[in-house]
Amino acid sequence: MASSTLIFSLIALILIITTTIPLSLSSPEQGFAARLIHRDSPESPLYNPAATRAHLAQSASRRTIARQNYFNRVMSSGNKWGSSLISATLGQGHGDFIMQYKIGTPRVDTFGIFDTGSSLIWMQCEPCQKCYMQTIPIYDPAKSESYQKVKCGSVECSTTAYTSCTEDGECKYRIEYQDGSLTDGDIATDTLMLEDDGLSGNVNLSNMVIGCGHYNLDPVEDYSPGVVGLSREPSSLVGQIGFRHVSYCIPSEDNGNGSSVKIGLPAVITEENTQTPMLSGKGGLYYLSLEGISVDGARLNIPRSVFDMTPEGDGGVIMDSGTSFTLIAPEGFGAVKQAVLDALSEFKPVEDSDKLYPFCYDDGRFKLETTPEIMFHFTRLDFPLAAGNTWIRNSQGHFCMAIRESVGNFNIFGLYQHRNANVGFDFNNNIVSLKYTDCQ
Ligand SMILES: *[C@@H]1O[C@H](CO)[C@@H](O)[C@H](O)[C@H]1NC(C)=O
Ligand SMILES: *[C@@H]1O[C@H](CO)[C@@H](O)[C@H](O)[C@H]1NC(C)=O
Repeated sequence: MASSTLIFSLIALILIITTTIPLSLSSPEQGFAARLIHRDSPESPLYNPAATRAHLAQSASRRTIARQNYFNRVMSSGNKWGSSLISATLGQGHGDFIMQYKIGTPRVDTFGIFDTGSSLIWMQCEPCQKCYMQTIPIYDPAKSESYQKVKCGSVECSTTAYTSCTEDGECKYRIEYQDGSLTDGDIATDTLMLEDDGLSGNVNLSNMVIGCGHYNLDPVEDYSPGVVGLSREPSSLVGQIGFRHVSYCIPSEDNGNGSSVKIGLPAVITEENTQTPMLSGKGGLYYLSLEGISVDGARLNIPRSVFDMTPEGDGGVIMDSGTSFTLIAPEGFGAVKQAVLDALSEFKPVEDSDKLYPFCYDDGRFKLETTPEIMFHFTRLDFPLAAGNTWIRNSQGHFCMAIRESVGNFNIFGLYQHRNANVGFDFNNNIVSLKYTDCQ
């Protein structure tokens, strides 16, 4: 364990050294901020004006379910960099927010799903052996002067997730998802340009390692050109640029305006009494240390083993930008559900007609202000869930608890439950800060 951590640190250090030097940032020490757009907002390239509210909630819920299958796989493969020829099947589920950026020389517009749970920046590329439909032209690297394929044996190839080598020395990647979607193509480097969110204009990141997918399947018709991975793995956006601070803030409004991710100095890490340790775990995921949950001030009787990682690194609590609704392992979920039902015993729970949430209330007297407060007791940080982040209206207008039972022995602190909170990650001190704020 200790030696693998050391090796990981060494490789990460080597990668930081080798990949931060060629960068040409507008202000390298400074970092940047990029806007995040909710996939269903009118400004999103994925916006579907015909989709109803119920349809969107259904999709978010479907993504949450797919997401836990994805994590089941990430966590059950101990293999950090996927050095095997073909990676484990992963499971679909990328997230609710997209990040717009430009790629190549000359720069062309593209975007990817903002995903703290994945480790590669990839997009569909011409020539397509097989590409699914997307809303913007597919990237054509032949038109980019800065595009270069990565060779086998290079540090870029060996430290990137899901790679393999062909007999003629080309570095390839392949990511398969549980629902049958997959992306397969070349590992390459190219320049990415992020439009800075009002801080210092734009930022050019040269020699960024990307996956250029020539064979892509998307049976769920997500239409996103790709994914921007922001895990702690060396091949993610965050890992490659080597900044040690990341923060993001998601407002509660559905249009997602005001959401941004800040990397480097602009990242907001809030003060001491809002901080909890960030634990290391599988897949470069962001693990939290959760000690318990209380409802209306009464600590629930949930064994620590429900929230703790096992010595093998299984289970635990992940903080994830790609999961809409918090998932709690069965034993913990049962206790939360019972305590909430008990606290609201004056109302009769009804089944969710959309079949997305565990229970709902269809009673004119039900008010958010009088719902019980669910408190997450992270190590050194008590974080109460705002009522607006705990309840959601289904398509019938009923109030439903927006927390679900997970399928495995792990827990995910989902996006809906940390809306209107500034989330700060400090990799130097291994700290997560969480503080309610106005994200606009
Ligand atoms: C980034 O590259 C683009 C295209 O070459 C250029 O127009 C822009 O000025 C560059 N930005 C910075 C900050 O260097
Ligand atoms: C979001 O912000 C942009 C830029 O500030 C603005 O033009 C747009 O109208 C806003 N959209 C909504 C739905 O508020």
